[in-house]
Formats: sequence, structure tokens, C-alpha cells
Amino acid sequence: MQIIDGKKVSEEIIEQIKIETGEFKASCGKVPGLAVVLVGDDPASAVYVRNKGKACERAGFHSYEHRLPADTSEVDLLALVRKLNADSEVNGILVQLPLPEGMDSQKVLEAIDPAKDVDGFHPVNVGGLASGISDLAPCTPAGIMELLDRYEIPIEGKEAVVLGRSNIVGKPAALLLLKRNATVTICHSRTKNLKEVTARADILVAAIGKADFVTADMVKEGATVIDVGINRVDGKLKGDVDFEAVAPKTSYITPVPGGVGPMTIALLMKNTLTAFKKQNSL
Ligand code: GUN
Repeated sequence: MQIIDGKKVSEEIIEQIKIETGEFKASCGKVPGLAVVLVGDDPASAVYVRNKGKACERAGFHSYEHRLPADTSEVDLLALVRKLNADSEVNGILVQLPLPEGMDSQKVLEAIDPAKDVDGFHPVNVGGLASGISDLAPCTPAGIMELLDRYEIPIEGKEAVVLGRSNIVGKPAALLLLKRNATVTICHSRTKNLKEVTARADILVAAIGKADFVTADMVKEGATVIDVGINRVDGKLKGDVDFEAVAPKTSYITPVPGGVGPMTIALLMKNTLTAFKKQNSL
């Protein structure tokens, strides 16, 4: 059993991006700019946004943080998004989810210029992902693919089972695995005989948001288990996988924290660099 070190890989990716950014700065005097919009004061979201700002600093990017009060109107938020769309210094825009109750998240996501949609949530990019032609895939699933590749875990022809069907993780993870020729099954709360399905998986991606949901009897001997869960239990972070019980059965497993989490931010930096290059024809 090998533990997949997402923290180390994410640091390597950000280091590579920093080098490339330095080269662009030297050759054309420009660096990528990422705008992050946080509405309200959800403490978990505030931590994520702060970490995104820190990652920008490490990558050598400009970072623009917009904190708006929880009672901001949808009209005002849409006006900010349009302003950022028009700002040539801003190459990537991320509106932190979830938005406060009463706001139409889909409408806000659709207002973002698809070329600046570093989350990959705009319908144009979702469609591109479904067709296998997008270069801005959602950061968490893209981070999972990067981990599989860096650890040289075979994907083609393998049984991949994704637990969870969210737009942020489950669905795009399934599409990315399919693009790499895995045989993909998506499971969810209504799936029958769940254990039978998950026990077939060579690659099991757990993204259901329930602490310790995946138990040893659900996992095939020698499987790769990717844990996307971030569940707060008694002040501690817990994944969706019962790590202690499952890890001995696996070939590879991601820990929580230090697995997929840091990769999401690294891939956000990568998407911002990709958007910057495209917008500047570099
Ligand atoms: N909230 C939780 N994960 C994400 C993410 O990947 N992007 C955004 N914008 N909000 C999130």
C-alpha cells in the first residue's frame, strides 16, 4: 500500500507554474491574474479563499480578492462578474460556492466569460468536457487525474467507480476517467447493491460527503482509492473513506487531509495559467 502524497505533488505543480510564470514575466511583462469572489462569511469558504490567495502568491500570479457581504444582491454580484469579465488584467474568475441562500448560483456561473471560467463550471466548458475538447476542466477532478498520472496508475481499460454525482466532482470525474478509456460507473444515493458495484472498482473515487462511508468490505483487494471527502467531525477533518480499515487492502490511497485537497488549488493555478496563455495567444 502506498499513500498518495497530494501535498507534495501540488507543491511540485505550483513550483513548475512559478517557473513558467517567471519566463512569461521576463518575455512579455505579464503574469496571470486570478479574481476570487466570496459572498458572505461562511468560515470554511473563507479558509478556501485565503488558501487560493496564498497559492497565487506562490505561483507568482496577481490575486484579486472580492469579499462581499452576505446580503449582496444578485444584481450587484452579476455587475461585479461583468466588470471582471471586461478587465484584461483578470485571466481567471472564481466565484466561491455555495452562494448565500436565495442567490441563483447557475445564473452567476453562466455570467462568467467561459474563457475566464477557471472552475470549468460554465455550460460551455461543461459541454466541452462532455465532448472531450475542454481545456478548463473542474479543478478537483482534474487534480485526481494528475495524481493518477504522477503515480503512474493505469486508467485505460480499468473499472472506475465514482461515488457521487455532483457537478463539481462526481460527474466531471466520471467524464475525465471515460476520456482516458476507463470503464466508468457512477453510483449515488439510489444505487442498488452499492457494495457489489464498488467492490468491482480498480479505481474508486469517493465524493459523497459522508465521513467514513466507504468501509473495507466495499473495496477490492489492490484497488486505488481516491478520497474527495472533507467532513468536519468533532473539529477534525475526515474523508469519505474509513482510512484505517480500507488502506491495508489498497495499492494506493489518498489521505485526508493532504490528498486531493491541495491538488484542487494546484489545478486552479494550472487552469489560470492555461486561461492566461490562451487570452494572450502565448
Ligand atoms: N466550493 C467547493 N469547491 C469549490 C470549487 O471547486 N469551486 C468553487 N468556485 N467553489 C467551491
